[in-house]
Amino acid sequence: MNDKKDHLFIFDTTLRDGEQSPGASMTKEEKLRVARQLERMQVDVIEAGFAAASPGDFDAIQAIARIVKGATVCSLARSSENDIRRAGEAIAPATRGRIHTFIATSPIHMEKKLRMTPDQVVEAAVRAVQWAREYTDDVEFSAEDAVRSEVDFLCRVFAEVIKAGATTINVPDTVGYSIPSVWGDLMSTLIQRVPGADKVVWSTHCHNDLGMAVANSLSAVLAGARQVECTINGLGERAGNASLEEVVMAVRTRGDLFPVQTRLDATQIVPASKLVSQITGYAVQPNKAVVGANAFAHESGIHQDGVLKHRETYEIMRAEDVGWAQNKLVLGKHSGRNAFKSRLSALGIVLESEEYLNLAFARFKELADKKHEIFDEDLQALVSDEDLATDGEYYKLSYSRVCSETGETPEALVTLTVGGEEKKGAGIGSGPVDATFKAIESIAASGAQLLLYSVNAITTGTDAQGEVTVRLSRGGRIVNGNGADTDIVIASAKAYLNALNKLQFPDRVDPQGDV
Ligand code: KIV
Ligand code: ZN
Repeated sequence: MNDKKDHLFIFDTTLRDGEQSPGASMTKEEKLRVARQLERMQVDVIEAGFAAASPGDFDAIQAIARIVKGATVCSLARSSENDIRRAGEAIAPATRGRIHTFIATSPIHMEKKLRMTPDQVVEAAVRAVQWAREYTDDVEFSAEDAVRSEVDFLCRVFAEVIKAGATTINVPDTVGYSIPSVWGDLMSTLIQRVPGADKVVWSTHCHNDLGMAVANSLSAVLAGARQVECTINGLGERAGNASLEEVVMAVRTRGDLFPVQTRLDATQIVPASKLVSQITGYAVQPNKAVVGANAFAHESGIHQDGVLKHRETYEIMRAEDVGWAQNKLVLGKHSGRNAFKSRLSALGIVLESEEYLNLAFARFKELADKKHEIFDEDLQALVSDEDLATDGEYYKLSYSRVCSETGETPEALVTLTVGGEEKKGAGIGSGPVDATFKAIESIAASGAQLLLYSVNAITTGTDAQGEVTVRLSRGGRIVNGNGADTDIVIASAKAYLNALNKLQFPDRVDPQGDV
């Protein structure tokens, strides 16, 4: 650590803004796994959710607040008394808890969405911060749509909430509209003009609609921001948020330019990226900076020759520094229950009960019989697999058979347990997966529309598990289902059923509007 550099707080909002991506909603168990990984990576703040959004969100935040000791746990809250009180209760068990309250400050949001006057907005913001201070002395205030707000009004709101006790002031580019020079100038202006600016941490929160979320965030840092709000893999609403891995590695790699440092353990970046991608079903594009599969691959002969002679000729970061390691053989078919359990715990995976552990171990043995070499990625998929959490699930796969032959139409048969009752179905399709989905639908008749189907090999080799994501939509709700298996037709069936099970139960309610 360089004592001369300021600390740059990394505020991770994968579990809140990231989860607002269509179909990316996570179960409590999945959120806990991501939170543990974020803690292991040493982010400063984990925004664990939006407590007032649903009882499920509230529970997940509270559970994260109970287990996370190494990071501040935060809940989002609109500027209403109910939201703030729910957030305060949710973070109560945390060693360090923060309430992040927000209200929109742009003319278009105040007039058209809130239907409030600027004076009313200032009053609501101040009240919100005062309520939040009843629960914690760590209160963040965000001016939603700051990017399209009038600077004089922003200065006024921020000055008032600082007086009321806000300790972090967040400046969001909610709609991803800014460009780096303008965003940096806004941050400098605010820091210069807002009374009390020196008493708070200035934060930036950028969306990626024009592909500039990271560049804008970094510009704000150069202008004095000391907290960046970001997500793993840049997950988030629409085009996403600033990507954590890019921000952190830019600051670290260009330490000659940035007067700040983070405390992040960068070797945990790739495991975090894989975990979030696996859980949400949002694949990482191969050429994505830092965490894409090709981010450190050199294809051209000239580059390969240069790297072999002297790595720095074409590489500005080292793959191993961000957690890229060769696939490590971790377990095999002779590994025992203890080795299995301790490898899971090294990966931050804590199964809720002995029963889950036994089920997971049985699945591991089955997989080891088929696959021989089991990698960390296989274990991650194994515990994400819907099979482990199917107790009480409405649809379960009991049997599947598919016949696919050159020149013939593929046919599939499936047996499902539906609400405890066994049902058989059949279907034909353009391929074995299509036939299997039709067979499932011959039973479920869900009326859902298939929006996305994707398969990824979890590790290398033809014996690798295929990891399938299925995105379904029905009545305006979008869900992702995941499944993994060495047989991709079975992985597909599991993913489809996982999505159907999610459609079966009420989702979080996204609160409409502010205040
Ligand atoms: O994008 C945004 O404005 C937000 C706020 C709630 C901070 O996510
Ligand atoms: Zn946002």
